[in-house]
Amino acid sequence: MIRLSNVTKYFKDQCVLDSLSLQIQKGKTTVIIGKSGGGKSVLLKHMIGLIKPDEGEILVDGMNIVPLEGKEINELRKKFGMLFQNAALFDSMNVGENVAFPLREHTRLKESEIKEKVARTLKLVGLPGSQEKLPSQLSGGMRKRVGLARAIIMDPEIILYDEPTTGLDPIMTDVIDNLIIDTQKKLGVTCVVISHDIDATFKVAHNLAMLHDGKIIAFGEARAMRECKDPAFQQFIEGRAEGPIKLV
Ligand SMILES: Nc1ncnc2c1ncn2[C@@H]1O[C@H](COP(=O)(O)OP(=O)(O)O)[C@@H](O)[C@H]1O
Ligand SMILES: [Mg+2]
Repeated sequence: MIRLSNVTKYFKDQCVLDSLSLQIQKGKTTVIIGKSGGGKSVLLKHMIGLIKPDEGEILVDGMNIVPLEGKEINELRKKFGMLFQNAALFDSMNVGENVAFPLREHTRLKESEIKEKVARTLKLVGLPGSQEKLPSQLSGGMRKRVGLARAIIMDPEIILYDEPTTGLDPIMTDVIDNLIIDTQKKLGVTCVVISHDIDATFKVAHNLAMLHDGKIIAFGEARAMRECKDPAFQQFIEGRAEGPIKLV
C-alpha cells in the first residue's frame, strides 16, 4: 500500500532518514519502533505528504506522492486518517464538532447524515453520546478516542497512529490497543502504528519494523521478529541501556 524507496531527509546538517526503504502491506498493521528522537514521526509525516524527502520515492497505492502539490495533496490525504501524538483536538469545539470536522471540510453530506455518522463513530470508539463535551473535560484516553473517531470518520484506506498510547495508564493503553485491532479488523484498513511500548507492539503488529540511525534495520512478520538477532533490535525490545543504541 505504501512503499518508500531510498528516502533521505536532512534538517540542516542533521540526517534523520538515511536512504530508508520500507514497504507497508495492504490490509495489515505495521508497527514501527525506535528510540525517541530517532525520526519516527518524521517518517510517518512523509507517508502522508506533510514532509517532503530530499531524495527518494514514496508510492501510495502505486502513485509517487513526492511531486504532489496543493489540491493533489489534499486528495491524497483523503485516503488517510491520522491520529497525532497529542490527539490534536480543536479545544474550542466540542467532541461532536471535532469528529464532524473532516466531513464538513471534505464532503457535502446533509447535517442529519453528519450527525448520524458522528454518533455511529463515537459509539465505535466507546464514547456514545459524548458529542456535547469539550476536550478540556476529557481524560487523556478519551481525547485519544475522540482523535481516533475523527481519524476514521472519512472511511480512510490507511490509518496512521503516532504513539497512540503514550502518557496513558495501562488499562487505557489496553483499551486503545484493542480499539486499534478492532478498527483494523472491522474496516479492513492498512495501519501504521508508531510505538515504543513493546507489549503493545507485539499485540497489534502483523509486521514490525525498527528504525535506527535513519534506516530500517530490522523488518519482518511480528511473531518471527521475536527471533531477530539484530543487536540494536534486541537491545530495544529487552530495554537495555547497554548496546549499539546510544543515548543522545
Ligand atoms: N520540522 C522539523 N524541523 C527540524 N528538525 C526536525 C523537524 N521535525 C523533526 N525534527 C528533528 O528530527 C529528529 C527526529 O524527530 P522525530 O521524528 O520527531 O523523532 P521521534 O518521533 O522518533 O521521537 C529530531 O532530532 C527532531 O528534532
Ligand atoms: Mg514522535
